Amino acid sequence: MRMYDIIKKKRDGEELSTEEINFFIEGYTKGEIPDYQASALCMAIFYKGMNPRETTDLTLAMAKSGDMLDLSVLGDKTVDKHSTGGVGDKVTLIVAPIAATLGCTVAKMSGRGLGHTGGTVDKLESIPGFKVEIPSDVFFSIVKQTGIAVIGQSGNLTPADKKLYALRDVTATVESLPLIASSIISKKLSAGSQHIVLDVTCGSGAFMKTPEAARELAKAMVEIGNMAGRHMTAVITNMDTPLGINIGNILEVKEAIDVLRGNGPEDLVTVCKTIASLMYASCFGVSAEDAMPKIEEAISSGAAFKKFKEMVAAQGGDVRFIDDPSLFESSKYVYEVKAEHAGYISHMNAETIGIASVVLGAGREKKEDSIDYKAGISLLKKTGSYVNVGDTIAILYTDLEDKIIDAEKMILGTIEMSETKPVDEKLIYEIIK
Ligand code: URA
Repeated sequence: MRMYDIIKKKRDGEELSTEEINFFIEGYTKGEIPDYQASALCMAIFYKGMNPRETTDLTLAMAKSGDMLDLSVLGDKTVDKHSTGGVGDKVTLIVAPIAATLGCTVAKMSGRGLGHTGGTVDKLESIPGFKVEIPSDVFFSIVKQTGIAVIGQSGNLTPADKKLYALRDVTATVESLPLIASSIISKKLSAGSQHIVLDVTCGSGAFMKTPEAARELAKAMVEIGNMAGRHMTAVITNMDTPLGINIGNILEVKEAIDVLRGNGPEDLVTVCKTIASLMYASCFGVSAEDAMPKIEEAISSGAAFKKFKEMVAAQGGDVRFIDDPSLFESSKYVYEVKAEHAGYISHMNAETIGIASVVLGAGREKKEDSIDYKAGISLLKKTGSYVNVGDTIAILYTDLEDKIIDAEKMILGTIEMSETKPVDEKLIYEIIK
């Protein structure tokens, strides 16, 4: 078998066999197939797609490319949650401790930032001392003791995705249904949880731009997960505007702490409560509506906040920063972006805002870039807000003085105004089981 023939076949829109898909994943994982051939195949898949059988084969080959964790010793309420990516998406930091407080076992593997979207692992690493790479015996003992641990794609879990994810990030091949579905579900299968809740985002800040595209992706992922024997739920959420107020690692940790303390912006709180209720509902076999009062109680009693601190301490993080977020270091420059016109904000492109935060230092432009955890944006006015000339729309945090004007231009350039209030968009579109 030759990689050249596999690329050519997909380029010409033909179906790949199970053996060809396995050949690609095995060869690429071992380093026998070079990045340039893997990127050519990803681009061919991007344009020609894959049928459900090919997508399932790709997912299973990727899941089996490394170790497959067996979490059965942790009981039958192991639950994982994954977002297809967004701007200001700090949901995992909030729902994981809520679910763990209520008796679910959250043994979770998360990713780093991808493209214009942030990643949970980067956010957690912004807490001084927090370790996302821990040996699997330590991971198991933390989960047994506390009911929760969130780690990176460490050890030998889905090495094929680790390589492909980084490659797709820099070859403009992220927004492809079979590539996203296989990337996410392979990780979820190898991480071992019985219950999986997928947050499939849609809109300008998501990889899927419309509810229809998100629905197609959600259905594909639910089907593959079910076939592999997992309890799957997907929720389609709106990511047309960044979620919550803060974008950037430390800023998002601070906002998550706010929500766990019973505060926080309404859109973020609603999405978090919905996802936490679906995690609980899947584990305990109840409806999401019946689960909701328990979620509210976990937050209002302070139990979820306490669980978050327990997780931070168990993974080496300094909990003083969680008790007093003002201890986090702040950026050299804090700059207010002011409205130039009065009126309602009728639209903003969340991807552009995500890229503006990367420009300020909050994300990576190249694979090897390091992140400035302090950098980011507080978006004080969002779609639907009324602004007067001179009102502060956003606050920029950065150590890079020369990037401030670029980021300001991007933000002001993406904001559309109107004289009338735009119709409120749905926040939760649909739940698929
Ligand atoms: N999240 C992932 O884990 N993989 C993708 O391809 C996109 C979002």
